Amino acid sequence: MKGIILAGGSGSRLAPLTQSVSKQLLPVYDKPMIYYPLSVLMLGGIRDILIITTPAEQDRFRALLGDGSQYGVQLTYISQDAPRGLAHAFILGREFIGKESVTLILGDNLFYGDGLSDHLRSGIDSARSGATVFTYHVKDPERYGVVTLDADKRPVEIVEKPTEPKSNLAVTGLYVYDNDVLAIAGGIKPSARGELEITDVNSAYLQRGDLRVEHFGRGIAWLDTGTSDSLLEAGEFVRSLQKRQGLQIACLEEIAFTKGWIDLRQLERSSESYANSEYGAYLKTIARSARELEGPMT
Ligand code: TTP
Repeated sequence: MKGIILAGGSGSRLAPLTQSVSKQLLPVYDKPMIYYPLSVLMLGGIRDILIITTPAEQDRFRALLGDGSQYGVQLTYISQDAPRGLAHAFILGREFIGKESVTLILGDNLFYGDGLSDHLRSGIDSARSGATVFTYHVKDPERYGVVTLDADKRPVEIVEKPTEPKSNLAVTGLYVYDNDVLAIAGGIKPSARGELEITDVNSAYLQRGDLRVEHFGRGIAWLDTGTSDSLLEAGEFVRSLQKRQGLQIACLEEIAFTKGWIDLRQLERSSESYANSEYGAYLKTIARSARELEGPMT
């Protein structure tokens, strides 16, 4: 399973914040936004990840995340010349995906909560053939792709930004596809707004009877960060939870260490590199506890 983070776009709703900096590099409380979708792919066990950026910003993403080895993953970068739509990820990512299946996550989406890893595993497992989209109950479905389900909870229709939504179930910015997505995305035409629409890809799977829906319930938070209000709210969400629990959201080295992708020495080295920040102090605490469990250094 390969992973793609779509971190290009114009971020026009956040101007002038995004005039000279990519949206996905802006802070969500104490971390750059891209940490959050990257953490989701890692929690899903995905280690081979393509990051799609604007041409102008690619070097900044590289400076931030490097080749991924400090998080036990392999990162590849590719740039998108213009925002040609979410499904354009599969045109750009064709070679990277090769013959594998792929999980796509939008670089400005934040998922967090109880059972998230189980949901991811279940979505990823079931998309060995076909596709899985993840839905979420929202108050304002007209802003999203909206799914209608039949009595057996099977999807019957997906409509992009309907003026009269038939349900409150929005399609979130997380999608799992088998390798057919390359052919399907290659065959769709740009929409009236000039973009290759992800809804057209999902509708193609739906018509073949190959689309599954995994629902994120009340225990999961799905936030997007595309407007000034939602960006601030996401930051407040992360701050409140971290302050209350003393646990970090989207701490990449913690996830990598827990999964056994980096060892204790790497974790300690990383924790030193963050100097005086709270993120660094948190990593030091994790490393110290692990060191105590391991016994005295030899
Ligand atoms: P959007 O929020 O739809 O678009 P945007 O980020 O350009 O913002 P705005 O609407 O304010 O202009 O994009 C969702 C995510 O997908 C976001 O992380 C940017 C990314 N994206 C790309 O990388 N390439 C694209 O062609 C598009 C449309 C989006």
